[in-house]
Amino acid sequence: MTYDTIVILDYGAQYSQLIARRVREANVYSELVPWSTPAEKVLALSPKGFILSGGPNSVYDDGAPTLPRYVLESGLPVLGICYGMQLLAYNLRGKVAASHKREYGPAELTVDAPENLFFRAWRSESENAAHEAALQQVWMSHGDKVEQLPPGFVPLAHSNNSPFAAAADVTRGYYAVQFHPEVAHTPQGSTLVRNFVVEICGCVPDWTPANFIEEQVRLIRAQVGDGRVVLGLSGGVDSSVAAALIHKAIGDQLTCIFVDHGLLRQGEALQVVETFEREQGMHLMAVNAVEEYLEALDGVTDPEQKRKIIGEKFVRIFEREARKLGQIDFLAQGTIYPDVIESAGKDKKDAHVIKTHHNVGGLPDDMNFELVEPLRLLFKDEVRRIGVALGLPDSLIWRQPFPGPGLAIRCLGPITWERLERLRQADAVFVQELRQADMLKRGTQQAFAVLLPVKSVGVMGDGRTYEEVIALRAVTTEDFMTADWARLPYDLLARVSRRIVNEVAGVNRVVLDITSKPPGTIEWE
Ligand code: XMP
Repeated sequence: MTYDTIVILDYGAQYSQLIARRVREANVYSELVPWSTPAEKVLALSPKGFILSGGPNSVYDDGAPTLPRYVLESGLPVLGICYGMQLLAYNLRGKVAASHKREYGPAELTVDAPENLFFRAWRSESENAAHEAALQQVWMSHGDKVEQLPPGFVPLAHSNNSPFAAAADVTRGYYAVQFHPEVAHTPQGSTLVRNFVVEICGCVPDWTPANFIEEQVRLIRAQVGDGRVVLGLSGGVDSSVAAALIHKAIGDQLTCIFVDHGLLRQGEALQVVETFEREQGMHLMAVNAVEEYLEALDGVTDPEQKRKIIGEKFVRIFEREARKLGQIDFLAQGTIYPDVIESAGKDKKDAHVIKTHHNVGGLPDDMNFELVEPLRLLFKDEVRRIGVALGLPDSLIWRQPFPGPGLAIRCLGPITWERLERLRQADAVFVQELRQADMLKRGTQQAFAVLLPVKSVGVMGDGRTYEEVIALRAVTTEDFMTADWARLPYDLLARVSRRIVNEVAGVNRVVLDITSKPPGTIEWE
């Protein structure tokens, strides 16, 4: 099956990816490509419309990104957002006013043409007053703005600062907004995006998990034929969903290798085996490599050294185990769209790179596998939806983000089995209490314990203690690029602290990390 596609030209706004996600949330397939992508490549996607993203430039800058000719020549609908709006105006003989002053923050939008398709189902929270129905909060972030609309355009909405906050040439299907409908600060923004892609571009909203799975099953079968596939299962969402999807397509032709390095959280190793071997009935090679890892990490305290050792070890063990399987033709990976976009952005060429699982440079060159990457066009939230549709358990789908090197980089100082267990227990107490208090929001919070390499004095019963310290780290975040420390209730913290000191042998003090990111990072190493 082929899907109606929207192409988003990326002009470098920080949140361009969000536009693609909003389109896909409307069940319409979209691809985000750099604005300078060759025309043939873009047109090969057979788009039904274009969206031009925002960007940091002014159309008057030397060497500013331009509007490729094929966009207007295609005769397809175009939605310009912020810089995209200015580009449209500039190219269609409107006037853009240069400005060094930025308007940044929330603004109130007044819709002047509520009957326009673009605003269909656009609603105010409080619809009790007619004039309020036309008011909505939107998010502005721009310097230049359109001063005079191009011929054929009519204004659709205004704000205090922007007489042309939204405008359109309805006949040609050109729409333009000064504000950012893709961000959460524009609460009704997804409605506008949906209206553009469904009502105006006429896309059929059939990009659904069920259709995606059906299509991928067909594609995987066609690619693999009767070949054999190996996949490294980490217990994380991406590799788990990739495994379940490929297994649905080719059953026993897939073998998963799960390397238990002893650095997972409490109960996780067992969960991987239970879920995939027992429940999903997959061929799973569970390799107990705990001793091997402990030996390799013995006495190592430097974080980078830890990462390097863990990564290299993984490659060596994976390779060794895969060779035991005999002839293998394909390597499956849980590469997802942000990985692809990020690496495309970095080296400016096609981003078909091996995902650096466990943060190493991929597998050795002499392992000649063809790649199977069924999730490479999906965002994380879509991966989760596919996982749900494939029947994976909630606890796995909503697993907290977890670094490849695992607990090794939360166990500061030297790594021993005893210290890892100490950390695992303390972490389990913290997470359990957070869950019970319903304080761990899916996808926007991360919380864990860190074991510090310092000892402090305490008193327990009649005796003096001299034991290690646990730091609690809990953050709220939109994207894990920036984060704020979570303001947890004192009662909850008191319970966690009491339980850790009472229940975890070798710990006599609990402290709370109150650093945001930046300047701190989420992890400690
Ligand atoms: P930082 O510590 O950089 O973490 O603020 C941001 C997010 O990334 C996770 N993280 C990692 N994930 N391998 C990973 O796959 C790693 O080496 C790694 N280090 C940090 C971290 O848990 C947080 O969600």
